[in-house]
Amino acid sequence: MLKIDLKGKRALIVGIGDDQGYGWAIATALAEAGAEILIGTWAPVVKIFTTSWKQGKFDASRKLSDGTLWNYSKVYPIDASFDRPEEVPEEVKSNKRYLEHGHYTISEVATLVAEEYGQVDILVHSLANAPEVKKPLLETSRAGYLAALSSSSYSLVSLLAHFGPLMPPGGSLLSLTYIASERAVPGYGGGMSSAKAALESDTRTLAWEAGRKWGVRVNTISAGPLGSRAARAIGFIGSMIEYSKSNAPLKDKEMLAEEVGHSASFLLSPLASAITGVTLYVDNGLHAMGLAVDSPSIERGV
Ligand SMILES: NC(=O)c1ccc[n+]([C@@H]2O[C@H](COP(=O)([O-])OP(=O)(O)OC[C@H]3O[C@@H](n4cnc5c(N)ncnc54)[C@H](O)[C@@H]3O)[C@@H](O)[C@H]2O)c1
Repeated sequence: MLKIDLKGKRALIVGIGDDQGYGWAIATALAEAGAEILIGTWAPVVKIFTTSWKQGKFDASRKLSDGTLWNYSKVYPIDASFDRPEEVPEEVKSNKRYLEHGHYTISEVATLVAEEYGQVDILVHSLANAPEVKKPLLETSRAGYLAALSSSSYSLVSLLAHFGPLMPPGGSLLSLTYIASERAVPGYGGGMSSAKAALESDTRTLAWEAGRKWGVRVNTISAGPLGSRAARAIGFIGSMIEYSKSNAPLKDKEMLAEEVGHSASFLLSPLASAITGVTLYVDNGLHAMGLAVDSPSIERGV
């Protein structure tokens, strides 16, 4: 039987703050395949995440097919907008949700992981942030645009630069992107569409560089709409899910986070050992459409 077997592999998933998003679904699928799980959680939400975990709020979604609940080995507080401690502005440093953690910049987390675990086989980037995401691009400030690129795209470059040396040949990196990188999606603003375009382009360049340097693969999944915490903050996720159900080739099929988790596990496993530099669409096929078939103009049939 051909199966995804990640026993003996260690995965670090950066961008889990609850059990609703793609990072969680990917961690669950990797745990199901036998991988050891390390989590990178945005520093300001670590407390609420670990408290909710201890209170059993995630137990139902931690269940594996054999009835056991998966566990993490460690949660690392991280802020992927910063590479080194000297770059952290004073107002962030002194914020009480940061003060309780030390060592949350990317270089510091990489040092901690190297000291505590030595090697990471799998790295997942499942995070994005844009302070002006609700503003159209034309109304986005320079600072807002650059902040979106910094935390949503450069974070991938920096994570790979710092964790690549900890990854063995055959190691694999995966990020999450969205179709707004290549088609206009009104409402996905603040430079987030630009950030996703950068992420996809960087996936190809990083595949080349990391492949030659460490033998590490780099891919991204362009995922369909999911009602995660981040997506709910943008504001129109409900209509995007309905739009997809009406217009995707796989009609009326809700796309589950679990389906992204399964595709991610394949891409991150040795079964995908010849795949690098790709953007894989996991979206019920919506990306293939050039027409909204539920548009009133189409339905009128004139
Ligand atoms: N939800 C969707 O419809 C959708 C569709 C396609 C792609 N994606 C992508 O999937 C990825 C995961 O998002 P999600 O929708 O599952 O939501 P999510 O809320 O589960 O994940 C986003 C995570 O990013 C973390 N984060 C934000 N800024 C950070 C920073 N500076 N450093 C470290 N962590 C930070 C948040 O705390 C959160 O845990 C993102 O890249 C998102 O763009 C989402």
